[in-house]
Amino acid sequence: MRKNIVAGNWKMNNDLAETQELLGQLKMQMVKEPKATVMVAPSFTNLYTAFENLKDTPVKVAAQNMHQSKNGAFTGEVSAAMLKSIGVNTVILGHSERRAHFHETNEILKEKVDAALENGMEVIFCFGEELEDRKSDKHFDVVEKQLKESLYQISAEAWKNIILAYEPVWAIGTGETASPEQAQEMHAFIRKNIADNFNADIAENVSILYGGSVKPNNAKEIFAKKDVDGGLIGGASLKAVDFLEIVNSF
Ligand code: G3P
Repeated sequence: MRKNIVAGNWKMNNDLAETQELLGQLKMQMVKEPKATVMVAPSFTNLYTAFENLKDTPVKVAAQNMHQSKNGAFTGEVSAAMLKSIGVNTVILGHSERRAHFHETNEILKEKVDAALENGMEVIFCFGEELEDRKSDKHFDVVEKQLKESLYQISAEAWKNIILAYEPVWAIGTGETASPEQAQEMHAFIRKNIADNFNADIAENVSILYGGSVKPNNAKEIFAKKDVDGGLIGGASLKAVDFLEIVNSF
């Protein structure tokens, strides 16, 4: 069901002490009934601490990645079952940094999406174009290809466990936020593309988040756009006061 969501992708930041400090600040400063579903995605080593610290709060915990195999000889990897065993039922997949640094192709991400859904997990599926794609007016084609090759194999029923996160690569970590109009234009394209490939009900009910330099001073205007349902937040999620100001931007 479509809802407002603000998720903090902590990336490779915060050791155990820093995690406990940030979680403590979030718990202390969080309003009782936030106007959005709030999630934090710490690194693997801090997931269980986050789960334990947040289980009596409205904040959900997500993983930043998972392997597509059930178990086995995949040194360094983590399976869906392992995540669920520590109370983590949501996973971010397809982040541009994993596509770039760890060579995650659309095909690999299709396998990861299928594995996550088969294990009853909720997926925050990330996608978005590079600057040169946008400059050559190929950004809609790139986004459509990422969706078709990694996500459109799923059943109509499975869409209830999908959250989309459009993250133009050129806006991630750069301070070059997409304008609210650019975000709205792409989100509307995505929603129509889903309606054309599935049906209007699925398209209308999927949450589409924007990610890429969302900050307290721009969140309200971006989130106010018709087809924007919230944000996937990087840098600004590492400071409780900034992250919570973004959460309260609806
Ligand atoms: O996954 C969210 C992230 O990629 C956005 O990062 O620092 O631009 O908010 P940032």
